[in-house]
Amino acid sequence: MLRITEPEYILMKKYIEEHCGIYLEKDKEYLIESRLADLLVETGCGSFQEFHLKARSEDHTGELRDRIVDAMTTNETSWFRDKNAWDYLKEAAVPMLLNLAAETGEASVWSAAASTGQEAYSLLMLLDEAVKERGQPSLLDKIEITGTDISSSALTSAISAQYDNIAIKRGLDREIREKYFHKSGNLWLFDQELKKRVRFEKFNLQNDFIFPDNFDLILCRYVSIYFSDTFKRELFSKMAKVLKPGGVLLLGATESLREFSDDFEISYYKSTVINTRK
Ligand SMILES: C[S@@+](CC[C@H](N)C(=O)[O-])C[C@H]1O[C@@H](n2cnc3c(N)ncnc32)[C@H](O)[C@@H]1O
Repeated sequence: MLRITEPEYILMKKYIEEHCGIYLEKDKEYLIESRLADLLVETGCGSFQEFHLKARSEDHTGELRDRIVDAMTTNETSWFRDKNAWDYLKEAAVPMLLNLAAETGEASVWSAAASTGQEAYSLLMLLDEAVKERGQPSLLDKIEITGTDISSSALTSAISAQYDNIAIKRGLDREIREKYFHKSGNLWLFDQELKKRVRFEKFNLQNDFIFPDNFDLILCRYVSIYFSDTFKRELFSKMAKVLKPGGVLLLGATESLREFSDDFEISYYKSTVINTRK
């Protein structure tokens, strides 16, 4: 594997932060070396300096840039990730969304770092169960779920909604699997009709947030951990602007906006931190 020199690390680190916001600390050379090793070989570059130059000069096509971003992002995810957070979603957020849908005719959710789709589909399964329990299946038509991510390969998987044996097992009970998936060859296919209810799109959280409607719930989980403090501040400020008053921003269990934003009221549901738009 080709080693990266210190000046090359500075160049690549800057490139990566510019294009996806991922901020690499001082000692993360191995991350660039290992994740970009195949791309270096494929592009025929003999050094990271040459690779950086190639990436910069081809920025207008976006192709190499997308592949670098894809390689540098961590798409780790699972079904119903973090029991505590999903207790909140099941017991408080889902009833809130259904009440809004019933009273106002609409409710809107954004899975803002959706990865391969497990987060958005987990919520969709909870909503589906809840509307059936309430005897109001048509309420589901009034709830919009948008899933976005910067990684093209993660989004392709999310849209296909097909999972291998390893991915399907991570966090999914047998009972729910039997209800919402069927097996085809080595893959588990998520309910073909239900999956149409999530609209997936490629979106970089560094972009301006321009959406047709504001959201009632934003799941932005396990992504801000990769960003600099400056970008976190900017991100939470943009999130606040696209949340309806009283809407909730749910972060990962290891993430906090406390130091970065005054736009939210912080409370707890059991041990889960709930950030409610003031
Ligand atoms: C660790 S996964 C978290 C997935 C899911 N939210 C969860 O909690 O299981 C982080 C995701 O953030 C995405 N990501 C990283 N930087 C991003 C950016 N600037 N804009 C949008 N998505 C980004 C990655 O591609 C990756 O899929």
